[in-house]
Amino acid sequence: MSSFVIVFLILSMLLNTGVGVNFTDVFESSWAPDHIAVVGDQVTLSLDSASGCGFESKFKYLFGKASAQIKLVKGDSAGTVIAFYMSSEGANHDELDFEFLGNVSGEPYLVQTNVYVNGTGDREQRHGLWFDPTVDFHTYSFFWNHHSIIFSVDDIPIRVFKNKEKKGVPYPKNQGMGIYGSLWNADDWATQGGRVKTNWSHSPFVTTFRSFEIDACDLSGEDTIAAGAKCGKLAQFLWDKPAKKRLEKSKKRQFKMVQNKYLVYDYCKDTARFTQMPKECLY
Ligand SMILES: *[C@@H]1O[C@H](CO)[C@@H](O)[C@H](O)[C@H]1NC(C)=O
Ligand SMILES: *[C@@H]1O[C@H](CO)[C@@H](O)[C@H](O)[C@H]1NC(C)=O
Ligand SMILES: *[C@@H]1O[C@H](CO)[C@@H](O)[C@H](O)[C@H]1NC(C)=O
Ligand SMILES: *[C@@H]1O[C@H](CO)[C@@H](O)[C@H](O)[C@H]1NC(C)=O
Repeated sequence: MSSFVIVFLILSMLLNTGVGVNFTDVFESSWAPDHIAVVGDQVTLSLDSASGCGFESKFKYLFGKASAQIKLVKGDSAGTVIAFYMSSEGANHDELDFEFLGNVSGEPYLVQTNVYVNGTGDREQRHGLWFDPTVDFHTYSFFWNHHSIIFSVDDIPIRVFKNKEKKGVPYPKNQGMGIYGSLWNADDWATQGGRVKTNWSHSPFVTTFRSFEIDACDLSGEDTIAAGAKCGKLAQFLWDKPAKKRLEKSKKRQFKMVQNKYLVYDYCKDTARFTQMPKECLY
């Protein structure tokens, strides 16, 4: 082999992120498979008055990055919620959520994010979007390392949950999380505070996910503790490289812009809700 070829191979190995996943290899339906249609790398979920549906990954991951492109329910989506989330199991579970709150035709979707640590959530933020999410696919992603959890939309960070363990705030770092998607009826709270109900004459409500990418520490097929130790090793993985310790400057600017223009609810500002503000809001 010529050195040219070797250099080429090494370069392509470095450049090839190789993170795209085949839906059927990685995911399975978790609920109402008859409401889920997989065609190529696209999966379509539908909701009618009989049922919503959902899928889950066959594997659990500890740190890393996961994303999907999603096209949200077109037209009247009031009362419906699409969720793309990561979660571990059990009462003391950790969970990272994107929840897309539907709306009546012509009114905007809201994106709710939440973080559960050790079974406790109540950390909602809500954002508007700078595009109509029902027209095209957009990329929604989780980035999770020892320093922070970053929720991004089309690579623009909309939320950063920092590790503040030094201040006594719990941080998810011990439990592997699966990756989930679902569509269900939540008209008791989702749209305009639950005032607008799902209009079933507009069903089925349909959303499509595609182009899943997962670049994360896979806990499958290994003794969890050994795998956890492997995943916990700093600097071995892309997401633990020193450059990933904090947002780069350009991302920080985008994040500030989104916080200024598109954030419509932040639990950390909700003094009516909490008699004592959550600790992470104080620092
Ligand atoms: C995904 O993998 C399955 C088998 O594991 C295969 O039948 C299918 O064609 C693959 N889909 C794509 C889009 O490559
Ligand atoms: C998680 O919560 C339980 C109580 O539900 C508590 O006993 C445990 O110490 C907590 N674990 C961590 C790591 O904070
Ligand atoms: C739905 O539209 C109304 C009116 O524009 C808006 O107040 C609300 O925040 C939107 N989103 C949800 C989920 O209710
Ligand atoms: C539900 O949708 C139908 C068909 O568009 C419409 O005629 C009806 O008024 C809607 N119901 C409500 C409660 O808005």
